Amino acid sequence: MTARDLLFGDLWDYAPAPESTNHIELKAQYGHFINGQFVEEGQPFETINPATEETLAQIHSADEAMVDRAVKAARAALEGPWGSMPASERAKYIFRIARLIQERARELAVIESMDGGKPIRESRDVDIPLVAAHFFYYAGWADKLEFAFPGARPRPVGVAGQIIPWNFPLLMAAWKIAPALACGNTIVIKPAETTPLTAMKLAEIIQDAGLPPGVVNIVNGAGATGAAIVDHPGTDKIAFTGSTEVGKIIQRSLAGTGKRLTLELGGKGANIIFDDAPLDQAIEGIVNGIFFNQGHVCCAGSRLLVQESIHDEVVRRLKHRMSTLRVGDPLDKNTDIGAINSREQLNKITELVQAGETEGATCFQPECNLPGKGFFFRPTVFTGVTQAHRIAQEEIFGPVLSVLTFRTPAEAIAKANNSEYGLSAGIWTDKGSKLFKVAGAIRAGVIWGNTYNKFDPSSPFGGYKESGFGREGGLHGLLPYLEVE
Ligand code: NAI
Ligand code: MG
Repeated sequence: MTARDLLFGDLWDYAPAPESTNHIELKAQYGHFINGQFVEEGQPFETINPATEETLAQIHSADEAMVDRAVKAARAALEGPWGSMPASERAKYIFRIARLIQERARELAVIESMDGGKPIRESRDVDIPLVAAHFFYYAGWADKLEFAFPGARPRPVGVAGQIIPWNFPLLMAAWKIAPALACGNTIVIKPAETTPLTAMKLAEIIQDAGLPPGVVNIVNGAGATGAAIVDHPGTDKIAFTGSTEVGKIIQRSLAGTGKRLTLELGGKGANIIFDDAPLDQAIEGIVNGIFFNQGHVCCAGSRLLVQESIHDEVVRRLKHRMSTLRVGDPLDKNTDIGAINSREQLNKITELVQAGETEGATCFQPECNLPGKGFFFRPTVFTGVTQAHRIAQEEIFGPVLSVLTFRTPAEAIAKANNSEYGLSAGIWTDKGSKLFKVAGAIRAGVIWGNTYNKFDPSSPFGGYKESGFGREGGLHGLLPYLEVE
């Protein structure tokens, strides 16, 4: 054989294709964005690149006094220029933010991958385009609220306090900010402590868009800063996305205050594969369902329910497909699975995978070299999982799939619903009638048919049970930010 005879998967490999970072400008430190100005005060902490463990910037933490400044700025803007502005003018600012995001899309995508570890392919092709789409979508609603809720005299709720997680940093900021602005509210928002950088870039965009000072205020910090927003008497509404544990703390502290609340919490989504499913597509859907964004996805298809008759074939094909996934540098355009967001999250994943092995499930991980530095985890599938196993019940929030089987549609429905969560599900079958019948019986806020992890600003998203309440996206996503009669 000569070197010119290429055997598939044997003699050749992808060349590295790193996205360049030389156009990225990061300041050494970032503070807060309050009343239209950057304020650098407060206890410093670091945000790192989880793929290299290198420090990207020092971030200042907002204490109660700083949160108070932000809330007062938001109140003043509400009672001042923003509150009296015609809705069609309000819309123009939101459109302007959307366009500026598009213009700076490449920069935002690279920073998102550096700060949080997600593959550039996803931040470039999924996160940032969806961020712009969300602002465009809600800009369109701003002057049509009377048509959305006829006769209900829709009015803004007031000052919205918003707390977001690290898995889709800028996208979660967009999900929170865009509908709140469209409805005429003002905002105090806190990014997650491991991923504050794209929010600070968004602050620059908001400044460039000429939004009146105080309409959007961004404060940095960890849980204590979030709690200060929740507990401040000047916030009229709280919107939270994050862990069920913190969601419960927030719900408890708001009880009796009359403040409005929406919670978007964890999940343990069932991805159901019937024996008549198109298998090639289903395998891609399984992979996308659990390995997208390293599995740091609240609606991940983390419980695979496979009809027993095709279990062995599905698992065989899935393992083969998993062995082609490329784990490594998030900035490489060939990377499928990037870095785990933090050491804490890596420890949590490792602990739950150990529990899966201890409790008797069978673990498979493809051979692959992990980078020497940074936080990485191999794509993992567990077979022989029972419903009592922790890995079938608890949210792992990592690239770890648990496989269970069923024989009849009724058993699939019962097992899918056997969860404290109720956020998402996927159904794969050739029969439309079966798909709709099963979907109607599953208690989950989002159900995908013959696809998975598809997002659109016009489609409402949210959960039942311990996955939270309230909807984001679509017409439904306006309601949490409006008083209606
Ligand atoms: P977390 O719930 O602690 O963090 C989410 C946000 O809440 C962050 O901005 C954090 O600073 C803030 N926060 C923390 N404590 C707070 C408090 N007492 N009051 C107000 N805000 C507070 O989530 P964490 O610890 O980062 O992740 C733990 C687990 O939570 C993950 O392993 C995953 O299972 C789940 N999670 C779910 C998310 C989702 O999208 N539903 C997102 C992030 C985490
Ligand atoms: Mg970081």
